[in-house]
Amino acid sequence: MSTGQGSTNWPAEAEVRSLHEELEERVRDLDAFAYSVSHDLRAPLRSLEGFSQILLEEHAAGLDDEAKRYLERIRANVERMTEMMDALLDLSRAARSPLRREHTDLSALAREVADELAAAEPGRSVRFDIADGLTAPGDPHLIRLVLQNLLGNAFKFTAKQSDAVIGIRGERQDGVDVFEVRDNGAGFEARHANRMFDPFQRLHSAGEFEGTGVGLAIVRRIVARHGGQISATGRPEAGAVVRFSLAPGGAGWAASGSSGERGSVVR
Ligand SMILES: Nc1ncnc2c1ncn2[C@@H]1O[C@H](COP(=O)(O)OP(=O)(O)OP(=O)(O)O)[C@@H](O)[C@H]1O
Ligand SMILES: [Mg+2]
Repeated sequence: MSTGQGSTNWPAEAEVRSLHEELEERVRDLDAFAYSVSHDLRAPLRSLEGFSQILLEEHAAGLDDEAKRYLERIRANVERMTEMMDALLDLSRAARSPLRREHTDLSALAREVADELAAAEPGRSVRFDIADGLTAPGDPHLIRLVLQNLLGNAFKFTAKQSDAVIGIRGERQDGVDVFEVRDNGAGFEARHANRMFDPFQRLHSAGEFEGTGVGLAIVRRIVARHGGQISATGRPEAGAVVRFSLAPGGAGWAASGSSGERGSVVR
């Protein structure tokens, strides 16, 4: 690559800053748009929900079984759409809420989240292996959301595993603290790893595992807002690993993966 005769073609610092500000403004606009769309679409959805319920309850005598079945399907889809709207609102909130930087104890937060997950499904026996002393300067509320989503995914995708183990640990790589959430669940094809961070992208069918497909998009936003990176690796039926940092730098760690696993970096 040529850099010109002695002089480099890098844009001036002021130009980079202005481009960055412009980009941030566009992202804010998009978030505001997503917020108002998901907010404003709730009213017509509520109306669909309400009128279909009236049809089923007060006009049932005039409907044959096939018509009732179709109405039920309409209602199920309205419910699904409402869930998606709620998820979009969560995504936009994660991007817009003010960011606080505090000394945050990830080990303590992970233990709280693990207890909540276990309490919600007392029938399951899952071993949580949570390393002590994981801390980072960051927004405790948003980091909790990250752990809720990552540990929640690990919990969900180990549901068919009789000896489910979910681990969280941290390691300093290239001068940056990298946190890792690992499970021995259903896993996924590593070549699809970058897709899973996009909103509504799922690598498993709803029949297999429930979900809206927005959790990891929220996680990516929060990690990016802290200046960090996130990457995922996995293999079908052999578990998944998600690594993330909460501070800028350490360009190499996310691209390399580890243990010979293939993965994908998402910024
Ligand atoms: N620990 C994991 N093991 C296997 N697959 C995973 C794991 N985490 C995420 N995935 C895959 O990535 C997809 C996207 O994850 P994401 O958390 O965004 O959505 P979700 O869990 O399906 O729904 P939501 O989080 O919105 O309830 C999942 O549907 C799944 O296919
Ligand atoms: Mg999820």
